[in-house]
Amino acid sequence: MRAPRIVGLGNAVELITGGESIDGRTAVLMGLVSDLVPGERLDAAAVALVRSEAKTKEYLADRQRWHKPVDIDETELGFLGATASAYIQGQTKGHYPAPLAALEVLLGSAGLDADAAGEAEAEAFAGLFGTPINRALINVFFLSDRNKKDTGVAAAVKPREIKSVGIFGAGIMGSGIAAAVVKRELPVTLSDAAPAALAGGVQKILEEVSYNKQTKGSDPRRMLTFAPLVNATTVDAEYKNCDLVIEAVVENPKVKGELYQRIEPLLGDQTILASNTSAISIGRLAEKLKRPDRFCGIHFFNPVRKMPLVEVIRGPKTSNETVATAVAFAKAVGKSPIVVNDGPGFLVNRLLLPYMNEALELILDGVEIKAIESAAKAFGMPMGPITLYDVVGLDTAYYAGQVMHEAFPDRIGESPLLAAMVKAGRLGQKTGTGFFAYKDKKEGRGSPDPALADVVKPLLRGQTRLSEQQVIERLFLPMVLEATRILEEQKVRDPRDVDLGLIYGIGFPPFKGGLLFWADTLGAAKIVEMLQPYQSLGKRYQPTPMLAEMAKSGQMFYAE
Ligand SMILES: NC(=O)c1ccc[n+]([C@@H]2O[C@H](COP(=O)([O-])OP(=O)(O)OC[C@H]3O[C@@H](n4cnc5c(N)ncnc54)[C@H](O)[C@@H]3O)[C@@H](O)[C@H]2O)c1
Repeated sequence: MRAPRIVGLGNAVELITGGESIDGRTAVLMGLVSDLVPGERLDAAAVALVRSEAKTKEYLADRQRWHKPVDIDETELGFLGATASAYIQGQTKGHYPAPLAALEVLLGSAGLDADAAGEAEAEAFAGLFGTPINRALINVFFLSDRNKKDTGVAAAVKPREIKSVGIFGAGIMGSGIAAAVVKRELPVTLSDAAPAALAGGVQKILEEVSYNKQTKGSDPRRMLTFAPLVNATTVDAEYKNCDLVIEAVVENPKVKGELYQRIEPLLGDQTILASNTSAISIGRLAEKLKRPDRFCGIHFFNPVRKMPLVEVIRGPKTSNETVATAVAFAKAVGKSPIVVNDGPGFLVNRLLLPYMNEALELILDGVEIKAIESAAKAFGMPMGPITLYDVVGLDTAYYAGQVMHEAFPDRIGESPLLAAMVKAGRLGQKTGTGFFAYKDKKEGRGSPDPALADVVKPLLRGQTRLSEQQVIERLFLPMVLEATRILEEQKVRDPRDVDLGLIYGIGFPPFKGGLLFWADTLGAAKIVEMLQPYQSLGKRYQPTPMLAEMAKSGQMFYAE
């Protein structure tokens, strides 16, 4: 309640409801702090300030001023309320109650003195505390806190220091990873089989690292700091002194294998080799390596700049030191790594695929795309699964689906719809048509396309009408079941890894606390009951042994 009286109501609304941090200079300009001084002058400046205030008695005047109601007229108050609440609704989609409650208190108590306003604040705060959303968000805080402390291995193994990084492949991922590394002031050696791709990759890296958020443009000072750290080369021998080499070439096991055969003999004895593969088994890629213990997956997500998750994939022969080093490296470049044992789809894609696949099944059952999208968004997903297909690209989704179908044919079928979409050349945003039509290939939002019916209609199995809750169950219950299989197979060390992986990897709604946290709020017995009506759909809705056992014993995923 002090902030609006010190920095003005508009500033306070922005600071409190947005929850973003501001830098020292902005804080001084706002009047939020008295002065900005270098750390070494802090004590002296504080003493001088106290002495000066003691003389001028300004602090007494401030106290009086800050105790009074906020100086704002009714019209301004109404305008601020309307714009701020529309903005908050747009940002939170109504899923997070705290910012709106804070706004209400800020506006409602503007006409009161600071004591009465403080009481209103305390009352509103009590109403938010202990709610399911509050508990879920506290869980997310603990998940990320736990992740920060996790070394990735059970044993006390020291990670090796990574002082320089090599990257093969300067495409979307290679250049994104290189930029992340350079931003942390680590040197990068980069090459690509295609000279044009290498040049394009370097340009993208420099654009990203020199970008100044404040001026929204390239910053010559940043360019001078970072550009010398990028070594674009065509000479393999220049990778000799890299402590870590990440391969991000095309998703083809043969191409990757040939590259490893060529470069492994050139690398230092202690150098770690890692692949950014999205789907190829790490065990398979390591087959011909002389040092499979120094090999692992370091799976960044696209776009690297935005996505906080990295999956560190442990192959059958990967050493603890390699895992610990990959984890420490991912953290050093600002990411949140989760260690996953090798297997189809690793963690995030393995959980995403059943959900995506189910969205296609729903279309074939005659459920409207609009209903599928709005149910997923009502659940809290940042975008619906059908839009996600268009963003990822239907060809990419088709190949990922093949991998999952081959691995788990009992529950992931080959979708005739996906095959038909690819055959029709409707590959998503990049081709201008997918499930939606796009006026501009870069445009985010698509619009419904009547021509889609030509592809969908011949494959329709019926005209099912489902409630929003039923669509949510169809989409998310297979994900929960797949998560129990992942736990049964010990692909991750803790259910919390599943939850953090989905929040950071696909934007699973934080206000649900994570997939398994959400499942715990329902309880295993209830989930088994919810699965009942879908048993005719086959194995993908059958309770797994783990879930059935939990339903009997009342055990929870988060039980210590
Ligand atoms: N794009 C994604 O969303 C994404 C996400 C996570 C992981 N991945 C994985 O990252 C890897 C790279 O994907 P991408 O999307 O950056 O692909 P991309 O096509 O943008 O880039 C691949 C680059 O590798 C180069 N290349 C091919 N063979 C080479 C060789 N022998 N030596 C050096 N360079 C070679 C190509 O010229 C190309 O520039 C793949 O394994 C992919 O599965 C991709």
